[in-house]
Amino acid sequence: MKAKTPDDSRTIMTDTVLPSETNPLNNLFGGELLARMDRAASIAARRHSRRITVTASVNHVAFNRAIPLGSVVTVEAAISRTFNTSMEVFIDVWIEDRFTGERSKANEAIYTFVAVDDTGKPTAIPPITPITDLEKERFEGALRRKQLSLVLAGKMKPKDATELKALFLGDS
Ligand SMILES: CC(C)(COP(=O)(O)OP(=O)(O)OC[C@H]1O[C@@H](n2cnc3c(N)ncnc32)[C@H](O)[C@@H]1OP(=O)(O)O)[C@@H](O)C(=O)NCCC(=O)NCCS
Repeated sequence: MKAKTPDDSRTIMTDTVLPSETNPLNNLFGGELLARMDRAASIAARRHSRRITVTASVNHVAFNRAIPLGSVVTVEAAISRTFNTSMEVFIDVWIEDRFTGERSKANEAIYTFVAVDDTGKPTAIPPITPITDLEKERFEGALRRKQLSLVLAGKMKPKDATELKALFLGDS
């Protein structure tokens, strides 16, 4: 299969925050943001694999900044690394200053998607080649994040998580 780049899957969704989507502090409800990120990530996973894709795991979510009612929110998702049938999707969330239009980072998340066939069986996907420095950095870290996710899910023994162990036991 021919390698793709993160740009081949990049998915950008812009929307606003309505009153029905907020918590009692008038900020975007966390579950609503998770759903928006899942939708963008799912489209990115489909664009990369051109297969049916399912969310296998939400590996990391950082709700760093509250997103107030009325904000313009942009969710940007792209595949950061592929394995055999699974792929890591990095999601960046941006908000626009209402007066200047300047964009700033609000949150980020990392999801894992798996490509499946019509019967739900995992199926192989094309590899990916990172291009920019940020894409290369995210690619490099993805294997240890996959191992951490598998260990937490009880699908991998800690002793087999070689890449993850190297992070804690290595020189750096
Ligand atoms: C995701 C799913 C297809 C994986 O099926 P499975 O029988 O565990 O298949 P495998 O063990 O062969 O795993 C398939 C791939 O997913 C990866 N994977 C499975 N669970 C994972 C997890 N928790 N974190 C990271 N990767 C995971 C495996 O490492 C494997 O990757 P690889 O082929 O790239 O090496 C299956 O669990 C499923 O259908 N889950 C429900 C998905 C769903 O409905 N999501 C919506 C939420 S409601």
